[in-house]
Amino acid sequence: MLQNTLASVFSAGLLVAAAASPLAGRASSATPPLPVSTPLLEEIQALQQALLLAPSQADRQAILLPNPPDASNYTFTFVNNTVLPPTGGTIALATVDNFPALIGTKVASAVGWVNPCGLNTPHLHPRANELLTVVQGELIGGLILEANPGGAGNLNGMNPTGPIPQVNATLSNFRSFLFPQGEVHFQFNPTCEPASFTAAFDNSDPGRTQIARNFFSAFPDDVIIAAAGGDLELLDATRIDQLRDKIPAAFAELIDSCAKKCGLPTGS
Ligand SMILES: *[C@@H]1O[C@H](CO)[C@@H](O)[C@H](O)[C@H]1NC(C)=O
Ligand SMILES: *[C@@H]1O[C@H](CO)[C@@H](O)[C@H](O)[C@H]1NC(C)=O
Ligand SMILES: *[C@@H]1O[C@H](CO)[C@@H](O)[C@H](O)[C@H]1NC(C)=O
Repeated sequence: MLQNTLASVFSAGLLVAAAASPLAGRASSATPPLPVSTPLLEEIQALQQALLLAPSQADRQAILLPNPPDASNYTFTFVNNTVLPPTGGTIALATVDNFPALIGTKVASAVGWVNPCGLNTPHLHPRANELLTVVQGELIGGLILEANPGGAGNLNGMNPTGPIPQVNATLSNFRSFLFPQGEVHFQFNPTCEPASFTAAFDNSDPGRTQIARNFFSAFPDDVIIAAAGGDLELLDATRIDQLRDKIPAAFAELIDSCAKKCGLPTGS
């Protein structure tokens, strides 16, 4: 019965799932829905479970590749789910969530489309290093370095303040940037032309932690206020409330100089 369920819908499911990444959620509100049927989450889950119960690679290949030479279950189609400004861009992911063949491997992959002035907002991947390659247009990549405030691995109460060093690079023509596991990074498109990238991850479940959204999700408000320096003139409960509803899930637009230069709508 499991096999029947898997067989009937699996190949169709992968294409749908490619567009159904969590990151695509916000983007889809700005564009017409893709011409796809209902998400096939149940079928994907059934296949994931079958693969997780398969102890060896030969067992997993017997599930995924039962009809040589047909390699369909080892292929994945990224959907170009480009969105319009002021949404800054979109990413399609291939991870264990939507490409079960990755179960038992240590890889995942992404394709991203970044609009003019688009910003892939500061984030980190808790379980994966990332190697991002720009394949179209131009992006600036930024990486905020790890800080070691105690000097010997200890948080010793010295409480240094001020910015942590950041490095950056302009990427085009297949130039790549390494974003190490767990380190905060971002990319933005400073030009008035679209850009796109591919990214490789060394974990089939890389994850994504949004810096601003995570920080402003802490409560009570006093925690955020104290962590941000404790100046109520700069940040109080009212401002926190206002900010919380505006922090984007993944992409934003550089609204000052860039959007004006390119004549883009700023969404507000
Ligand atoms: C893909 O995997 C499913 C689940 O095991 C299987 O039923 C189906 O035949 C496979 N598709 C191809 C083209 O081999
Ligand atoms: C992705 O789709 C958009 C909108 O249809 C199109 O303008 C763009 O050229 C496509 N990008 C690629 C790389 O195919
Ligand atoms: C890159 O960093 C330098 C400082 O190290 C800064 O002057 C420059 O503006 C940065 N470039 C971008 C595009 O952010």
